[in-house]
Amino acid sequence: MNPRHRESSVLLGSLLLATGSPGAVEPGEGGGAAPPSTPALGRVIPAPASVEPRSTPYRITADTRIRTRGAPGVQEVADHLAALLRPSTGHPLPVEEDVPDGIRLLLTDGEPDLGDEGYLLDSGPEAVTITARRPAGLFYGVQTLRQLLPAAVEERTEQPGPWTVPGGTVRDVPRYGYRGAMLDVARHFFTVDQVKRYVDQLALYKLNTLHLHLTDDQGWRIAVDSWPELTTKGAATQVGGGAGGHYTKDEYREIVRYAAARHLEVVPEIDMPGHTHAALTAYPKLNPDGEAPEPYTGVEVGFSTLCVPEEVTYHFVDDVVREVAELTPGDLLHIGGDEADATPKDEYAHFMDRAQALVTRHGKTVMGWHQLAGARPVAGAVIQYWGYDATSEEERRQVVDAALAGAKVVLSPADRSYLDMKYTEATELGLDWAGRVEVRRSYDWDPATYLDGLPEEALLGVEAPLWTETLATSAELEVMAFPRLPGIAELGWSPRATHDWDGYRQRLAAQAPRWDALGIRYHRSPQVPWPQQ
Ligand code: ACM
Repeated sequence: MNPRHRESSVLLGSLLLATGSPGAVEPGEGGGAAPPSTPALGRVIPAPASVEPRSTPYRITADTRIRTRGAPGVQEVADHLAALLRPSTGHPLPVEEDVPDGIRLLLTDGEPDLGDEGYLLDSGPEAVTITARRPAGLFYGVQTLRQLLPAAVEERTEQPGPWTVPGGTVRDVPRYGYRGAMLDVARHFFTVDQVKRYVDQLALYKLNTLHLHLTDDQGWRIAVDSWPELTTKGAATQVGGGAGGHYTKDEYREIVRYAAARHLEVVPEIDMPGHTHAALTAYPKLNPDGEAPEPYTGVEVGFSTLCVPEEVTYHFVDDVVREVAELTPGDLLHIGGDEADATPKDEYAHFMDRAQALVTRHGKTVMGWHQLAGARPVAGAVIQYWGYDATSEEERRQVVDAALAGAKVVLSPADRSYLDMKYTEATELGLDWAGRVEVRRSYDWDPATYLDGLPEEALLGVEAPLWTETLATSAELEVMAFPRLPGIAELGWSPRATHDWDGYRQRLAAQAPRWDALGIRYHRSPQVPWPQQ
């Protein structure tokens, strides 16, 4: 049975209670003399690995300077910080080299424990100093600094302040190297500006991967020069019959550039051999029956397939993978492989063998939905698990066995991390085939113990997919992503010891004024003690 059609009459499973963290500093405590509108040191999402508050805060004033030392990538982080702070503070905040105080962004060769993404943030009366080994670490330190300032810092017009940063030290490194969000731009098309808006939201929570689901039955959204009708014919509509759309190569490059400037890598997904109806409308020779079907604007799945026995299929896959790989600086290329219900069972593994070989030949690492684990994943392939509580033991076992044989795993359990699942019965948007997923259920699980027997070193991290069968605007994306997206980001970043629902929901509530300032619509879940509006 197709899982998307499964009845979702009950909330599956029970809520797990986190075991708490006796040794950890309670996030949200401390902050000393800071005025009440200033968040306390540590009242940040994702929770920092460790926090030592002191009572002497730093204040941004008209005289504050941002100090860098011209290493590659540092100037960009400084400019990003200045662009964030100038409109709301009204201060000039010049970016300069070698000033002794102010906001200092420093790269170091020391501190090996910080790795490529960790940072130290030290705040006191003279300076806020962010130290990291790489620009990515400085960028994440800046996101922490941003959340330590009052929410009004997010406004784009001048605000009264004061702009006080609580005193102390934050030492922070991510738990996982893969912290992703997926956006489905195939069911409904989203413009470059809409994708950028979402990227900005991901960056605030230290996510580092934007997975773009670029192709599906309803539309093909990326230009491929050698198969031009994929976008002249295959992009012409979307769910509900709207106009659809696609990215030119330059537009895709612009998304990649914009994401990279925020330390997110783009993972493009070309979903095959199923979910290919739009391609078949453009090129009927790829269809097993050779016929050109009508465009599809509904929300069913599992009815289309590329023709596995025909050699033209592999010319097509070769060209598409080559062109998409050329456009994509990141290492991963996702080839889908899910819900290939219209592909004969004895042909699926053969198709995935050949598609994987082409990805490898074009210099990328294969990523696929976890059905790939039931075929023959190539060495080092990344398997994205999207099962849920009702997924069979056998299917889970295949993923664990693949990992034991050398595959890597990203976790996207549909009844925890799928941002398009309804929160409750009353949620207007979204789907509910995996159950209804309120904020606590989405946050309160541990990736490390989620799949029984999964070796620790195989788990790359987590990803929150956002499917768009029912979502057509940025406001609709946001009301499903917020407030669950920050919770998945925290599972990806914060150490297990900080994981605590009661502390988390306080920190989550404190984000609401920030979302209001940013114009982000969110679900006011009764599980979270939101401030009065
Ligand atoms: C999926 O939700 N079909 C990966």
